[in-house]
Amino acid sequence: SGLVPSGDRTVQHRRVATTQPSPVRKISALPTPLATSAAGACSTPSISCHRRCSSPPPCSLITGACCCWRGDKRGCCLFSSQSVMDRAVEAASEFFKLPSETKQEFASDDIRRPVRYGTSSKDGTRPSRTFLKHYAHPLSEWMKYWPEKPPTYREDMGKFSAGVRRVALELMEAILEGLGLGKHYQHEEFENGLQLLQVNCYPKEPEGESAIGLAPHSDHGFLTILLASCPGLEVLDRSSDTWRVVQQPRHALHVHVGDCMEVLSNGRVKTAVHRAVLNHGEARISMASIHSFAMHEKVSVAKELVDEQDPEKYKESSFSDFLDYLMSNADKKRMSFLESLRT
Ligand code: OGA
Ligand code: NI
Repeated sequence: SGLVPSGDRTVQHRRVATTQPSPVRKISALPTPLATSAAGACSTPSISCHRRCSSPPPCSLITGACCCWRGDKRGCCLFSSQSVMDRAVEAASEFFKLPSETKQEFASDDIRRPVRYGTSSKDGTRPSRTFLKHYAHPLSEWMKYWPEKPPTYREDMGKFSAGVRRVALELMEAILEGLGLGKHYQHEEFENGLQLLQVNCYPKEPEGESAIGLAPHSDHGFLTILLASCPGLEVLDRSSDTWRVVQQPRHALHVHVGDCMEVLSNGRVKTAVHRAVLNHGEARISMASIHSFAMHEKVSVAKELVDEQDPEKYKESSFSDFLDYLMSNADKKRMSFLESLRT
């Protein structure tokens, strides 16, 4: 996520010129894994959830590194209300329209602040993204730090946060089951885990230029649930080393697998490298909800996934260790935090 500062990864990847819409699949259908997709087509697996799901989504949906979860009025078991999503986007958008002085009250270079407003630029001159980051779970602990303007912010963002958290926890159970660990694996740690909400505002793409809004990175937690007002997200397809444009159906939630998942699964599930490009038609709001263990709780490789053939590939670490890493030698960092954990 934007937790890893822009410019952290220096590898340049070829941008895919054309893509086709990814078909929305029924929950029972298995997606084509990214690795075997037809060239050029965006095969991001997606689940259309129109009725109460009786079984968890197949793990392979998620191991494809990114999937969509589409809530709908007829009652998705996980996220039922489109209006909750619309109101959250609206509240975010209203926040970014506030006068600069109001927003600057939240500005800080201290990444441990409970609420933080800032801008990140690619070339150091023109900011291409403004963001507001704050913790969201438990709500009773964090909401008092959130912006009071617009007046709807706390309530609307609170509802959205609670909703996406349920999505994240349910998906996590499905993945744990898929890994053979059982859905209650480290249940307490997930239940008591932290949620970081990262609200982004990207300007419209300048005429005749193609611009990166957020540099390539992976998110730190186990899962990120992302809602965006229009297209702009791209995911790196590791097999061809190219960027895939991710479709943005209205009210679709994107799911990214993050670094903690790669660690816990001992590398069986790989973190999703992604970036945001500016949209040429309109300014864009996105909200990334990052789910991890509590601040000082260590995430380590599941012992069940380690044996002689498959030794432990990562050292354990906590969210707090990650923040310390970001604060240390921030500008001359050669390695991502995940790379630093490799044994
Ligand atoms: C993030 C992120 C992507 C987007 O905030 O971590 O990856 O589309 N955002 O805004
Ligand atoms: Ni991200």
